[in-house]
Amino acid sequence: MRYSNSALKLALHFLVSKSVVTGFQLAPSSYHVLSNTRLFSTDSQSTEKETTSNYDTTKSPWAPENNMEPIKKGINKSRFRQHVNPLARKFQMETELDTEWPNDGTFSDPSLPLHIDVGCGKGGFLLELAKHRLETPNESEGERNYLGLEIRPSVATFAKQRVAKRGLTGKIDFIGCNANVDLDRILKKYTKYGGEIALVSIQYPDPHFKKSHQKRRVVTPEFVQTLVKHVKPGKQIFIQSDIKDVLDNMRETIREFGGEYFEDSIPNLEEYMEENPIGVPTEREISVLDQDLPVYRTVFTRIDN
Ligand SMILES: C[S@@+](CC[C@H](N)C(=O)[O-])C[C@H]1O[C@@H](n2cnc3c(N)ncnc32)[C@H](O)[C@@H]1O
Repeated sequence: MRYSNSALKLALHFLVSKSVVTGFQLAPSSYHVLSNTRLFSTDSQSTEKETTSNYDTTKSPWAPENNMEPIKKGINKSRFRQHVNPLARKFQMETELDTEWPNDGTFSDPSLPLHIDVGCGKGGFLLELAKHRLETPNESEGERNYLGLEIRPSVATFAKQRVAKRGLTGKIDFIGCNANVDLDRILKKYTKYGGEIALVSIQYPDPHFKKSHQKRRVVTPEFVQTLVKHVKPGKQIFIQSDIKDVLDNMRETIREFGGEYFEDSIPNLEEYMEENPIGVPTEREISVLDQDLPVYRTVFTRIDN
């Protein structure tokens, strides 16, 4: 489906009044994201100089010793490396996590259900969603914690720095890591304190168009197996992309390697969910809708198997 300007305006005048997916509780239509729309820059403008001297190869690229500070020029002028290769040796390392995480003060209540956003970029989506849910609690959804995973070290640091600035300390965390390496460990640690995985979102993941690069894509058979392990019945996975092949590939991988456990809300592979059931757009989504480009989406629900 192509979004017209009026559709975009509608989206910006949040939110979608009704969900087409059971389990998603959408925000009230009075919510506006317009105030934040132009604050977000897109990843495509980005470059980042990597510090190669003094790089400690015994530590992960996300360790403070190896992670350069984002340039503090304001969000629109920030410069970040556009892509990294998740299969590069250094990005195959585990990230450093406090042994007590998430019970180390990161979350005020680490036993709350968790919404985890994989490949969260600068974190605008989760920050906006968490703020909105605090202002307008969603009773059927209940209270949640929010966690973003981001592979680009300085982007992850940037997202983390925004938490306190938005007054969301204790509610959100961002972890710099390769989700394909650390997702299982992170979910295991989180659920240890009683919190369920309420929702996993994978939104506009890097497309890695070249055939030889497609193995760099985030939704792999192993990734799906990790979700099977940690996402309990009734909980959901939301995927969306502006690139049909990328959405189709994620969707087919989930069906092939988790089909016994996850039910696609839209059985026909040629059909997609028209509206964003969460109702808060990501930074990439804002730019996509702005250009009137199509978006492909679906939701999987864990079934009792
Ligand atoms: C195109 S951006 C989309 C960002 C955000 N989801 C949005 O919609 O605005 C994809 C993000 O996923 C991150 N990413 C790619 N592979 C990843 C991985 N294996 N683990 C964690 N993050 C990853 C990239 O660095 C990038 O920030």
